[in-house]
Amino acid sequence: MSQKFYIETWGCQMNDHDGERLAGLLEKQGYEAVGSSAEADLVLLNTCSIREKAVHKVHSELGRLRKEKEQRPLMIGLTGCLAQQEEEALFKRAPQIDFVLGTMALQQLPKVIEEVQAGRKRVIDTGEYPDNHLFPPEVARRRSTAKALVTIIEGCNHACTYCIVPTTRGVERSRPWQDIVAEVKGLVARGYKEVELLGQNVNSFAGGCTFSDLLWRVSEIEGLEWIRFTTSHPMNFTEELARTLVTNPKVAPFLHLPVQSGSNAVLKRMLREYTVEQYLERLGFLGEGRSKLALSTDFIVGFPGETDADFQATMDLLEAVKYDISFSFIYSPRPGTAALRLRDDLPPKVKSERLRILQARQMELTRASNDAFIGRTLQARIESEGPIENGAWLARTADWRNVHIASGPARLLPLGERVSVTITGAGPHQLFGELA
Ligand code: 5AD
Ligand code: SF4
Repeated sequence: MSQKFYIETWGCQMNDHDGERLAGLLEKQGYEAVGSSAEADLVLLNTCSIREKAVHKVHSELGRLRKEKEQRPLMIGLTGCLAQQEEEALFKRAPQIDFVLGTMALQQLPKVIEEVQAGRKRVIDTGEYPDNHLFPPEVARRRSTAKALVTIIEGCNHACTYCIVPTTRGVERSRPWQDIVAEVKGLVARGYKEVELLGQNVNSFAGGCTFSDLLWRVSEIEGLEWIRFTTSHPMNFTEELARTLVTNPKVAPFLHLPVQSGSNAVLKRMLREYTVEQYLERLGFLGEGRSKLALSTDFIVGFPGETDADFQATMDLLEAVKYDISFSFIYSPRPGTAALRLRDDLPPKVKSERLRILQARQMELTRASNDAFIGRTLQARIESEGPIENGAWLARTADWRNVHIASGPARLLPLGERVSVTITGAGPHQLFGELA
């Protein structure tokens, strides 16, 4: 009987895709995927450490698994950013872990498992394998059939003072553009019509051409309908890329450009490398095209030393740009980061209140942005295999809005297909529509 595995993944799409790569490696070894940890002989916790909350989730899952391991044989492996960050220290805190595998050593998984099976305790590999980003694309076992995740660049060369990512993902390493085009061609041949190009900073892609060139080359692939990408550092967002985003019909009209704060003093302490004025100048590269795409951002509130006036400047920026969507977080101190040296004496209550105010206003802006679609007919791709709440199907528009499509009981909408939808209603989190 074959060994069974279960992978639990937290964090960003890059980590999701690493989970798909690890699943592929295990299947190649003859392991079989199962739907829950209770059925598995091997559980991989593919972790995130971007904020403390993400780390708590991992530790509470580890606690649960420890009890399970007392009842039956179970191999537990830790992968992802927490593995890379804490290394050996994890075994001390959680002795139920059999192995730790870093983010730059994915292909060592079979070897590490073999060592555990041979009776070695506390097996660890958090080495930096220079070919990690050249992971064989055919091995990955992708989960969603609506959209394929494709990593194009790993690591980050920026040094934002709050951020753990440069520690956990290393310096930038780009795949050759030819490999990426070949992988996407293969995906389209297998039926995918949408890809999302991934990197901690896709804009600084350097795999033999610029990121903008890469988008054009990928867009030439026949049968491919939409290309998405995430995520972008404003300082690497060029005029050339802005032009591609607004003129290439296959590049989905959505831009996630994290600003983090609307205060120049805070941006400086974050070492974001831009002022608010420079950020706005870069948004200006989009020109008239700006109105045709959805704009999204990330904010951190309660960064050390953030005054009422700094926070107000963030709110002013939110108002001025009118983001269609934003993601906002309370600053979370991360081990080994430079911001730890800054005095952080803002009461937690003040930080939560700022987050609440920002999110409440964003909700209104998102709602207004969604309302503008009522009565229009647009294209959306089916993202659910069956009906979700209220019998509606879930779909995504090109600019990344959720649409709940009411569908007759006998009508099966195919996952991954693009359909025309007439929008009949809107909420802060989704649009409602009917097949046109
Ligand atoms: N605390 C809070 N938020 C953070 N982010 C990154 N590091 C931290 C941290 N230490 C946020 C940023 C980033 C997003 C992915 O997560 O807004 O853009
Ligand atoms: Fe989390 Fe960042 Fe690592 Fe992604 S790269 S898993 S968001 S810490």
